Amino acid sequence: MIRRFIALFVAMAVVGCSRKARPPEALVIYFSSDMRGNIEPCGCTERQYGGLPRRATAIRRRGSSARLLIEVGNATRGAREWDKLKFRYILMGLEKMGYAALNVGGREAELGRDDLVRMAAETKVPFVSANVVDAETRRPVVRPYVVRAVGGFRVGITGILSKDAERPGPGLAVLDPEMALLRLLPELKERCDFLILAACTDLEGMGRLAAKLYEVDVILGGRVREPTRQPVVVNQSILAAVADKGKMLGRLEIHFDEKGGVAGRSGEIIELGEEYADDPQMESVIARMKEEQKAKELGDATTHEALELIVAGKQAPGADRYVSAEDCRECHMKAYQVWEGSAHAHAFATLTAKKYEFDRDCLVCHVVGLGAPDGYRSKKLTPHLANVQCENCHGRGKKHGEHYRRTKKKEAEGAALRAPTRARCFRCHEKERSPNFAYDAYWRKIEH
Ligand code: HEC
Ligand code: HEC
Ligand code: HEC
Ligand code: HEC
Repeated sequence: MIRRFIALFVAMAVVGCSRKARPPEALVIYFSSDMRGNIEPCGCTERQYGGLPRRATAIRRRGSSARLLIEVGNATRGAREWDKLKFRYILMGLEKMGYAALNVGGREAELGRDDLVRMAAETKVPFVSANVVDAETRRPVVRPYVVRAVGGFRVGITGILSKDAERPGPGLAVLDPEMALLRLLPELKERCDFLILAACTDLEGMGRLAAKLYEVDVILGGRVREPTRQPVVVNQSILAAVADKGKMLGRLEIHFDEKGGVAGRSGEIIELGEEYADDPQMESVIARMKEEQKAKELGDATTHEALELIVAGKQAPGADRYVSAEDCRECHMKAYQVWEGSAHAHAFATLTAKKYEFDRDCLVCHVVGLGAPDGYRSKKLTPHLANVQCENCHGRGKKHGEHYRRTKKKEAEGAALRAPTRARCFRCHEKERSPNFAYDAYWRKIEH
């Protein structure tokens, strides 16, 4: 014991004050970024990646005691009411995994000061930001940094949002990241032995910060197109990044020499595929989220408003409206029958089977006109607009039907419905959700 003490003392004497405590043999950092509300894969197609349930399993499987979990930012999709609802459950998941920090990304900043502060107060996951501040006072709205002790070794975690990023919400301003960090560094150097910066910026921005700030040991990103397969060293800092809706998890392992210097590092990008079973604890967080979504939607008018089901803005008087496939049936029997037998007519049941029929992030492609004043609102208010229907492709059909009921004339007189272009399909059949989409092959299945 005494001998170890002396060894430590000598080590400190050799490196002076820059390393104050004996570092662990290895420090393992798990980092994630850019979830944008994707709490788990949607299941629109097979072989999708990501999600909290797999993430938790991946971390547990690799087991390590000296580890830190850091979220680099953009965990929420946005600032709408249902985005916030989901974000709360994402935070619950991160909390249960033991995240050490969440950096305020552009999407979190969109929440605006009041919501950001409120949500930060509701979770045990510390929100950090060195440069997202109160627009008036220019003072921090969340902690500028946190310090986590690993053994006696003090690891500081701070974060920045690039200034050119998305516009911050009401009450917030984004300061120049470099200036904000420079101001913070003397204090950070005093309080920690090792410094990690979570940077919601691109690789160039990360590189620029590394070139200017030699005190930062690790910079985690970010807003990148491709993850860094192996960590990169710029100036004195180790850079690593992941992105793309939380489909992957970054792992960085840092080895120290006896003097406390970095002796080695290795990185890994863990693609969260099906080989990682769903963690039951995360699944129960998601189940609770679905329960709340359901309770809100089935609740009274106040909760409807809370979910923005009552869409702001009204249609102009005399404007066309959505009516549903039932309204087309009498005149287009053949088309109706084809549609009725197609997958489109069961798109809502698909969501129900997964208890996702109250999630607006899913409904948008699985019902008619979500978000429009005359479109789908809820299972209770607008059951006739559930599923993908004729009007998803042909547009609103009220006037068209009325016209032909009034007159047997061929001319539609401004009430014509047209065949959609192929681009209409791609609005929903996006590459990630419908990777096998090929117009001819798909059209053949619904030809009418
Ligand atoms: C951008 C539009 C879009 C969104 C948003 C979307 N889906 Fe889908 N979904 C599709 C399309 C398109 C398909 C059909 C894909 C194919 O077969 O090529 C599909 C198919 C599915 C299927 C497979 C149906 C089957 O039986 O083959 C499931 C399950 C599903 N979606 C669930 C969800 C859930 C859950 C969400 C929300 C978390 C969601 N979707 C959000 C467009 C979307
Ligand atoms: C009262 C009868 C009636 C109703 C209801 C009706 N349509 Fe029509 N629709 C017609 C007639 C008649 C035509 C013109 C057919 C023609 O020109 O040969 C037509 C034409 C169309 C066309 C254009 C075909 C083309 O080649 O230009 C589309 C698309 C269409 N209808 C879709 C719909 C949809 C979608 C609905 C329901 C929202 C609907 N219709 C409701 C009678 C109706
Ligand atoms: C409003 C969103 C939306 C649009 C627009 C849309 N689809 Fe779909 N499509 C879906 C969804 C959602 C599903 C999955 C339904 C399910 O199984 O739950 C789907 C499924 C399908 C399927 C069944 C796939 C299978 O594996 O059997 C075909 C075929 C299809 N769509 C063709 C088309 C074509 C062709 C177009 C354009 C003319 C189109 N869709 C436009 C949402 C859309
Ligand atoms: C997924 C998109 C989609 C859905 C859903 C859909 N249609 Fe169509 N519909 C098309 C496309 C695309 C065409 C044009 C095909 C072409 O011209 O090759 C078309 C053509 C038509 C035509 C013109 C046919 C002709 O012979 O000229 C009518 C009428 C029509 N649809 C009515 C309906 C009705 C009624 C429904 C619902 C019961 C419906 N469609 C659902 C995409 C869709």
